[in-house]
Amino acid sequence: MSDSSRPKSTGHGQAKRSTSGDNVKVVVRIRPPNEAEGERFHSVTEAISDHMLVFDPKVQRPMGFLPPNHRDVNRRRFKDLKYAFDYVFGPSSSNKDVFEQTTGSIVKGVLNGYNCSVFAYGATGAGKTHTMLGNSQEPGVIYHTMIDLYKRINEQRDEKCFDVAVSYSEVYNEQVRDLLMPRGNLPIREDKTVGVIIAGLSLHKPKSAEELLHMLHFGNKNRTQHPTDANAESSRSHAVFQVFVNQRQRCSNFNSEVKMAKMCLVDLAGSERATHTTNQGARFREGANINRSLLALGNVINALADNKFKGHIPYRDSKLTRLLKDSLGGNCHTVMIAAVSPSSRSFEDTYNTLRYADRAKHIRADVSRWAGKDLVSLLMF
Ligand SMILES: Nc1ncnc2c1ncn2[C@@H]1O[C@H](COP(=O)(O)OP(=O)(O)OP(=O)(O)O)[C@@H](O)[C@H]1O
Ligand SMILES: [Mg+2]
Repeated sequence: MSDSSRPKSTGHGQAKRSTSGDNVKVVVRIRPPNEAEGERFHSVTEAISDHMLVFDPKVQRPMGFLPPNHRDVNRRRFKDLKYAFDYVFGPSSSNKDVFEQTTGSIVKGVLNGYNCSVFAYGATGAGKTHTMLGNSQEPGVIYHTMIDLYKRINEQRDEKCFDVAVSYSEVYNEQVRDLLMPRGNLPIREDKTVGVIIAGLSLHKPKSAEELLHMLHFGNKNRTQHPTDANAESSRSHAVFQVFVNQRQRCSNFNSEVKMAKMCLVDLAGSERATHTTNQGARFREGANINRSLLALGNVINALADNKFKGHIPYRDSKLTRLLKDSLGGNCHTVMIAAVSPSSRSFEDTYNTLRYADRAKHIRADVSRWAGKDLVSLLMF
């Protein structure tokens, strides 16, 4: 989508033009209310079109069992903020819908040699893991992306040779671990030729969709996950699924140009407000580490959004931002999926997520191809 065709949120109920670049897409997904929210809370986030939502609207809609004219009498005024994004998914959207409007459009870019990244951001319990990983009944964006990638590769097999490898890791308490071959903490290195890499991370070549699903399931079992107040299956680590694609023309000789691209699909751990949670001990410390790394990510987004490309971008402030250095802004197509709850129970969390996402729209990316670099073999051998 071009700059001129994209509406901009104003926070004051009017739509203006966006300033975000072509290579950064920001979408918001509003999940359906859960049982606890339906009983005592009302809806504060509503999709009003495919590209716009209203937060804390003047007309308050009930959720679940509240009488239709319910209003929160304690609140003096409504924010009534309109936000515009590249896409707004309402509660009835499916993971396939989200895939089609997000990675669906950038998988083609990966096969043209461009780096891509997709990350799900949002408060704990907002629906990030559901969106990125899903479950056996409703597989997530990662699964749909890989199926699409393999389909496109098959269509081009007569003209090109492809080499595809994947890795799956987590950042937990500022340590990086392999989820597919767990064996302790791994260092992050920056290599002049291949960019940011996790040294010693295992690479895998799934041969079918079933093998890929099995691999994701196995990796998720190894992922750090604990029940918290807000989510019975809360992810306590950032999960990073990476896909490396090399391609070469079939008719060309071995020394011909190799197009290489990296795709990074990230299910972030959820932000949570320490004052809001009763988490204790290890859960509290995890929460503090999660918040610190998300703050570092926010600072990187702010620095990139301010267009200070020549200035300092604080990538080194956390493992997460070091890892995402070449997957955010710069040399990359980026999609941010901001997940929110519709409910007044998550009022502050949703407001923070929407402001974060609104800020991310201003990141500009300067996408270039990594030609002549055979990353899969460089990493594997
Ligand atoms: N779009 C959706 N449709 C149906 N159920 C959903 C949807 N989004 C989330 N859920 C359900 O809500 C619960 C919380 O979702 P999820 O685990 O994805 O949250 P999260 O953002 O990953 O939270 P955390 O940061 O704590 O890991 C899960 O039970 C999930 O199945
Ligand atoms: Mg999660």
